[in-house]
Amino acid sequence: NAGMAQIAEATNIKIDDFVAIKDFCKKNAIDLVVIGPEAPLVAGLSDFLQEEGISVFGPRKNSAMIEGSKTFAKEIMVKNSIPTAVSESFTDKEKAVEYVKDRAFPQVIKADGLAAGKGVIIVENLEGARQILEEIFVQNKFGSAGNRVVVEEFIEGQEVSLLAFTDGVSVTPMVEAQDYKPIYDDDKGPNTGGMGCYSPVPAVSSEIYHSIVNDVIEPTVFALASQGCIYQGVLYAGVILTEKGPKVLEFNARFGDPETQVILPRMKSDLLEILQATANRELGKVNLDFSDEVCLSVVIASGGYPQKYKTDYEIEGIKEAEQAGAVVFHAGTIERSGKIYTNGGRVLNVTVLAKDFKEARDIAYKACSSINFKDKYHRNDIGLRTLEQYSYSKSR
Ligand code: GLY
Repeated sequence: NAGMAQIAEATNIKIDDFVAIKDFCKKNAIDLVVIGPEAPLVAGLSDFLQEEGISVFGPRKNSAMIEGSKTFAKEIMVKNSIPTAVSESFTDKEKAVEYVKDRAFPQVIKADGLAAGKGVIIVENLEGARQILEEIFVQNKFGSAGNRVVVEEFIEGQEVSLLAFTDGVSVTPMVEAQDYKPIYDDDKGPNTGGMGCYSPVPAVSSEIYHSIVNDVIEPTVFALASQGCIYQGVLYAGVILTEKGPKVLEFNARFGDPETQVILPRMKSDLLEILQATANRELGKVNLDFSDEVCLSVVIASGGYPQKYKTDYEIEGIKEAEQAGAVVFHAGTIERSGKIYTNGGRVLNVTVLAKDFKEARDIAYKACSSINFKDKYHRNDIGLRTLEQYSYSKSR
C-alpha cells in the first residue's frame, strides 16, 4: 500500500508464488523474511523458504494449522486441558443439525478452514442454524474451508488478544490489546476485520494476564512441540474473559490487525532483534520491554464496509493528522502521481501513543477529523470504555 511504499521498496510478487518469492530473496540477498498473512503460512511458505536456506519469521505449515484448522486447534486444547468453549466438529450436515438441536442458543458455527475472517457465524435459533449449515455444506459458501465445521457454545465476556513471540522453546508474551469487531458504535452491526483497538486493556488484571500466558499460550506451544510442531513466530490467542476465567475463542498464527498497530508502538525493544532471535531459536537470549504509555487506534473505513463499498477516492489531511500527534498506518490505500487514494474497506489506522486514554482519544479523534475522503466512516467510541475502567497495573 501507499504507506509501505513511503518507508520501504515495494515489489509486486504474488503471495502464493513461492518460487518467485524465493528467486527474489536469492537475487537480493534477503536476510530475513517476515510472513504476514495466514494463507501463505498455512500453504507452507515458511517451510519452502527455510528449505532453500532462507531465514524466516513465521511458523511452518504444521504449526500454522493452529489457525488453518479450527478442529486441529480444538483437539490440541481439549487434549491439554486448555480452557475453551465446548464444541464438536462435523463433516456431515445432518449430524451437525442433530447436534445443534440438542443445545441451547445462541450457538456459533465456524468453517474449519481459512475463510478470510468471514467463517464465523452466530446463530440464534434452529432455523438459522439449518440455513447456515445448508449454505456451508450444500452451497459451498466457504469452498473447501467449509468441508468441515465446528459447532461451538456461545461464550460471553470481553474479548482480549494476547500475542506472544515463540521459537518453540521460549515464550515471550507481548502486552494485551482489545479489538472492536462490529462496524457501529456500541458494538452494533455486522463484524468487520476490526474497527479500532487499544492497549493495555483495563479489564485484564495481572492475574488474568498471567493466566492467559500460563494456561493458554505456553501449554499450546509445548503441546505443539510434543507432536513435532516447533512453532517459530507469533502466536495470537483471542480469549473471552468469562466468569469462569479466560477461554480461547481462536488462535491465529500471525500478528493481529489492528492489534499490532497498538502493540508495536508500545514496544521499547528492537523488533528486528526479536524477529531474528525467533527465527534463529535464540529467543531466550533477548529481553522484551514495553512502555507504560497507552496506545489507541481508530480505523477509518470506506462507507458501506463490511458490505459493498466504493474505492478510488482521494484522501486528504494525512499530514495534518500526523501534525496533530497521530501515526497514520495505511491499510487499503494506493498512491498515484503523488496523491493517495482509497483502495480497500479499511483504509487508515489513526494511532496515538499517550500518557492516558483520555489524551490518546482526544488526539486520535482530532486527527481523524482532519482526514477526509468521500464516504469516510469511523466509529466514535473507540476506547470509551477505558475511561471508566482504567486501573492498569504497572507491576506486570
Ligand atoms: N483482529 C483480528 C485478526 O487479526 O484476526
